[in-house]
Amino acid sequence: MQPSIFSITGFARPGTSPGHSLDRHRQSRCPNTGAGRIHRYRLFALSVALALATTRAVSAAPPAKASNASVEYATQLTPIYSDASLSQQIGTLSPSSELHLQADITPSAAEPFSIDGWFQQGNEQSLFLDKGKRIVVAALSRPPKGYEKLGEAKDDYDNVWVHARLNAYVNPQSLTGDQATVWQHAATLYQARCSACHAVHKPAEFTANQWPGILSIMARNAALRPDELALITEYLQTHAKP
Ligand code: HEC
Repeated sequence: MQPSIFSITGFARPGTSPGHSLDRHRQSRCPNTGAGRIHRYRLFALSVALALATTRAVSAAPPAKASNASVEYATQLTPIYSDASLSQQIGTLSPSSELHLQADITPSAAEPFSIDGWFQQGNEQSLFLDKGKRIVVAALSRPPKGYEKLGEAKDDYDNVWVHARLNAYVNPQSLTGDQATVWQHAATLYQARCSACHAVHKPAEFTANQWPGILSIMARNAALRPDELALITEYLQTHAKP
């Protein structure tokens, strides 16, 4: 176990000097406060508080794999399946997509999960983050069978969008409970791969719907692999100009 560093704040009784050593407590009366037994209870309480603070500091360290988080994020392009034996692939999640697991993660087992997003009516194979914003959450190989319909709305161009929940199975290997790590990885990759010919453009220079067109050209310039392109696309679109 790693030693943990923490600080603790508290109140000292007036009259207790910093040089108030433990040795002096062996006497039946405390020379500074005049207190006997009660004073020792305070010391006991303080050591319990310290022990608790240590325990908390240790358990606050990020777990290797979030064991009981119900929200997880895909770290890369992640296949999803219609069955618990993971034999029928129905599509792929984008990096950073948010999943709701139905149970605690049991590493190496198939996890049932649900994911929410928006389909444009007539194109039920692309699940987007929001209506009218083409940030892909999941790409499906055919229209999904039983998705739950949560609602319906129109975008600025009068297209009808369906708010939907999809239920499927995933191998939890490529999930993380911490979306920030996905963005850190994406930002590093973006800086490394897109700054060779010009300074990197700020994500907020373009809208979420403008980035894919630019990236389809620049991905060739930067010779991005599909998973790298997917991660950089999600990063730029999610941090884009509103
Ligand atoms: C091999 C060199 C090269 C690499 C690598 C490269 N670009 Fe470019 N990029 C260019 C050139 C040349 C232009 C200007 C001409 C053009 O628009 O095609 C440009 C223009 C752009 C523009 C401005 C487009 C506009 O409409 O104003 C953006 C944004 C951009 N690049 C993003 C990226 C991203 C993102 C990456 C990484 C995936 C990337 N570039 C990697 C050469 C490169």
